[in-house]
Amino acid sequence: MELNFDEVGKGQPLVLIHGFPLDRTLWHPQLAGLSDVARVIAVDLRGFGKSPEASGTVVTMEQHARDIKEMLDGLGIAEAVVCGLSMGGYVALAIAELFPEMLNGIILCNTRAVADGEAAQRMREITALKSLDGGIPELVPGMVEKLLSTRTLQSVPQLSRFVSNMLLEQPATAWATSSRGMAVRPDRTALLGKLHVPALVVTGSEDALMPPAESEAMATHIPHAELVVIPRVGHLSNLEAPDAFNGAVHEFLEHVN
Ligand code: MLT
Repeated sequence: MELNFDEVGKGQPLVLIHGFPLDRTLWHPQLAGLSDVARVIAVDLRGFGKSPEASGTVVTMEQHARDIKEMLDGLGIAEAVVCGLSMGGYVALAIAELFPEMLNGIILCNTRAVADGEAAQRMREITALKSLDGGIPELVPGMVEKLLSTRTLQSVPQLSRFVSNMLLEQPATAWATSSRGMAVRPDRTALLGKLHVPALVVTGSEDALMPPAESEAMATHIPHAELVVIPRVGHLSNLEAPDAFNGAVHEFLEHVN
């Protein structure tokens, strides 16, 4: 599987992994704002954006991790800082587990290490079936409301439209296969204690999908983690507050090299 990606800058490779059901364009403020300090690579996960369509019924977080490893091998990159937002964070943790030698540092944004409960797993299947049944346009408005903070929704309508369009553009097969993949991801809390690379945990104070308390808990489990909570920002912290987000990553990268 040859993943599609955008790449800018030189130096420390920084792999940016988007959330669900998004694509690499989520990271445009980071491609613009971090290329002076890193070789920034924003990837489309299997099925999303311009990467090849996902086949089968499930794409696990481990499969996404293997796809990224293959992409980095193809680029001749042996070590990288891996940065994932939400589902991208689940993939980053899968990379940490499967390919620890590849990790120079990890940035976990608006994400969690715990697995889904039964109710969440049932909701994932409903989302999968509904999206395959042509229901994406119905799912999108409710999702956008949860992805962005109240302030962003009310005062930055162009951002809401940008996110809404991104969701609408993703194929139903990507929605379904990764939804099911998230449902079967394991609890990786125990892995957090074994992360002996520099780690940055970033979230937004108004994240309605992953409350900041979850990020705080995650950071306490990681031996060398720094926690940054960006005020008045929701689930898409990198997009809603690009300056604060890029500033935190900038500072973090200084400790990595
Ligand atoms: C995401 O933004 O990737 C999703 O909210 C993650 C999830 O549904 O668990």
